[in-house]
Amino acid sequence: MDPSVEQLRRRLESAGQRHVLQFWPELSEEERAAFLQELAQLDLQRLKEHCDGATRAAAAPPASLDRHIEPVPPEIIGGVKRSDSGCLSEWEREGLLQVSESRVGVLLLAGGQGTRLGVQYPKGMYDVGLPSGKTLYQIQAERIHKVQELAARKFGSACTVPWYIMTSEFTLAPTERFFQENNYFGLEPSNVVMFEQRMIPAVTFDGKVILQGKGKIAMAPDGNGGLYQALVDSRVLEDFGRRGVEYLHVYCVDNILVKMADPVFIGFCVSKGADCGAKVVVKADPAEPVGVVCRVRGVSQVVEYSEIGPESAGLRGPGGELVFSAGNICNHFFTRSFLQEVAAKFEVQLKQHVAIKKVPFVDSCGNQVKPSEPNGIKMEKFVFDVFPFSRNFVVFEVVREDEFSPLKSAAGAAADTPTTARNSLLTQHCRWAAAAGATLLDGRGNAFHPAASVSADPPQFEISPLVSYFGEDLQPLLNGRTLQTPFVLDGNRAKELQAAQSRV
Ligand code: UTP
Repeated sequence: MDPSVEQLRRRLESAGQRHVLQFWPELSEEERAAFLQELAQLDLQRLKEHCDGATRAAAAPPASLDRHIEPVPPEIIGGVKRSDSGCLSEWEREGLLQVSESRVGVLLLAGGQGTRLGVQYPKGMYDVGLPSGKTLYQIQAERIHKVQELAARKFGSACTVPWYIMTSEFTLAPTERFFQENNYFGLEPSNVVMFEQRMIPAVTFDGKVILQGKGKIAMAPDGNGGLYQALVDSRVLEDFGRRGVEYLHVYCVDNILVKMADPVFIGFCVSKGADCGAKVVVKADPAEPVGVVCRVRGVSQVVEYSEIGPESAGLRGPGGELVFSAGNICNHFFTRSFLQEVAAKFEVQLKQHVAIKKVPFVDSCGNQVKPSEPNGIKMEKFVFDVFPFSRNFVVFEVVREDEFSPLKSAAGAAADTPTTARNSLLTQHCRWAAAAGATLLDGRGNAFHPAASVSADPPQFEISPLVSYFGEDLQPLLNGRTLQTPFVLDGNRAKELQAAQSRV
């Protein structure tokens, strides 16, 4: 063995990772060079700590926080149904003002592997089967266009909402290619900033890094809380400063109903002087597996559903409402200065969470194995774990049917599938059309009657975000009309309807 490789072997051995080079003699020159390059990027002392920490954390019994939790106090909560319409309009105005002054950016967390959905490409490229065939990325891009337009129209100044997209080794190249092929969906490419989060090794239950190939370690992105390190690594914090972006709306790629740079939420947070805020929905039932925004020993944070026992989860208040009801939907507000402070002071303190996963590997005989049972530990940081560092944390409660329908799993799963995401969006658009005075007929000629809940078989009626961001401006187009579905109300259709209305 080459002396430098021999030295590496010794260092791996003292880090407890001798097996890493077990297939070295079988590797080609090229594979060896690539593997050495990969290994050179690993800090072996930290690797040892990482592996030891992962096994310790995976073996630890789940923490129970029941005795220490209390709901967040009502004075820090606003909401679509909790707050009066005057306040909501004022917050919307404030939010649009900030957007119009180009002080708001959106930041997409898109580094995940989407294993439950099971596609080989980034989730944002997924088409849930809408009549328009739009992907999640396209819907989001069009909402950015629209919110810029709404702000510019209200305040008379052209503005930009830059789109920051955190990717990982898995998602960066295909995402870049997809945006290029689609001409950035009409956005100015320089206002779409993609950056990459770090990757860390997956580890077996006995603390060994997993070999994905004979010359490749199984690496996984370091969780969506890898954001804070990535903001520094990629100098994105500086980009905020250069552009004058003071407020960030951070969100997950998979919520088809996400309100990009939501003016009401931004305006609420800004008006309250918050440095950090979370949108929540009321938990559907005590057993719904979502994190809950609450206080632990007096400090606001998200508690995972595994950390609360069924008794606390099921506690109800005098009106029958769940006491711990604030379901986290990964829709956050941060000021730039808060993010700077987190990056400078608190990032190192972020908790590491254990995810037990099925990680493909090569066994000791060199066979490629796709495990049917979980065999590995991936350590992840979570984006919401910075809430405890906030000096002024606020919560904004929104209506689930209007703002939250995540795409997590493949068709056939019990919840959060392409079908549920599609139906949420179509039902919402049908509700907007009905509120604007239209009658929608489905394929059998039956009229749609809007209900609050998501229809399992809504008419195929879709509104382009370029026409309406959140149901506004539809009445002049739709009032008194009967429309046969499928129907896609895009810019051209809107012009035709407008022309027809003006002829009446
Ligand atoms: P999820 O926890 O739902 O993970 O991520 P996922 O990768 O999309 O799907 P599974 O669990 O493998 O099936 C919530 C959000 O956080 C992002 C995802 O892209 C998604 O928007 N994320 C997750 C990251 O940006 N980086 C990560 O390391 C993990």
